[in-house]
Amino acid sequence: MIRNLVNIADFSKEEINQIYNISSKLKNEVKNNIKHHHLQNKTLIMLFEKPSARTRISFETGMFQLGGKAIFLGPNDLALGKRESIEDLARVLSRYNNMIMARVFDHDHLVKLAKFSTVPVINGLTNYNHPCQILSDGFTILEKFGKIENLTISFIGDGNNVFHSWLYMAQRFPLKINIACPKGYEPNNNLVKKTRKIGISTVNITNDPYEIISGSDIVYTDVWASMGQEKESMIRTNKFSPFQVNEKLMKEAGPNSYFFHCLPAHRGKEVTDEIIDGKQSVVFDQAENRLHVQKAIMVYLMK
Ligand code: CP
Ligand code: NVA
Repeated sequence: MIRNLVNIADFSKEEINQIYNISSKLKNEVKNNIKHHHLQNKTLIMLFEKPSARTRISFETGMFQLGGKAIFLGPNDLALGKRESIEDLARVLSRYNNMIMARVFDHDHLVKLAKFSTVPVINGLTNYNHPCQILSDGFTILEKFGKIENLTISFIGDGNNVFHSWLYMAQRFPLKINIACPKGYEPNNNLVKKTRKIGISTVNITNDPYEIISGSDIVYTDVWASMGQEKESMIRTNKFSPFQVNEKLMKEAGPNSYFFHCLPAHRGKEVTDEIIDGKQSVVFDQAENRLHVQKAIMVYLMK
């Protein structure tokens, strides 16, 4: 059966743990300059409708390290669903490539790509979610805490694609998920309801960061205006300014909490320099682990 990564719930908890075991091995191979070409002669086609640094570079480098090749198609090469139907494109790409990774605006387009493709499709971010990011962050959490279960994650900011993937993660691991966002910027209600119904995690939504911050294991933030929302930037800056992660807020979280950000960061907006460059920040470990975990995802999907 062809397996895809459209959202984190495509994997069971056991499978995610298997992916983390592979990630550890692959990370160790890189650190010790051990070369195993687990994906020799395999190709990954990468479709990008939006910009990317980490996702593109980590997939491309990852495929190279695994002995395969990644092929990049940017927004100028491809207008998903415009030049030809997504169904046809999925079928054609499946005849050339062993895997497809796509970063698209419309999540339904990604779902359609996965439905009609006959090779694994990996979601490299949509307007709805960002599973590679949060799966990688789970690995960073494992490295820092030795476990994922029962940690308190406080997300300060927009109820956006990155936060939605935290909700999917909370459908697999017991977590205490908090979000503080301005009114009107809450996460997708159906996803919140479903996560609560599954019942292994708690989801707490508030409009006051100080209500949730105390005792958080992880303080997480992301940009206030995501890709495609640039026109709303001014209005969002006004609404989100009380949600900046700064020294005052981190002090309330306590000295044992870590600061996470998926990057790119808008310094001086959602986070101050003191925090992102401070000793509680692990943002570059997060960025590095994208490489190791995505390699593991590809190896797992190609098994
Ligand atoms: N965090 C992340 O996905 O970064 P890019 O947008 O640079 O790929
Ligand atoms: N929420 C951000 C994440 C970037 C990795 C965006 O979609 O632009």
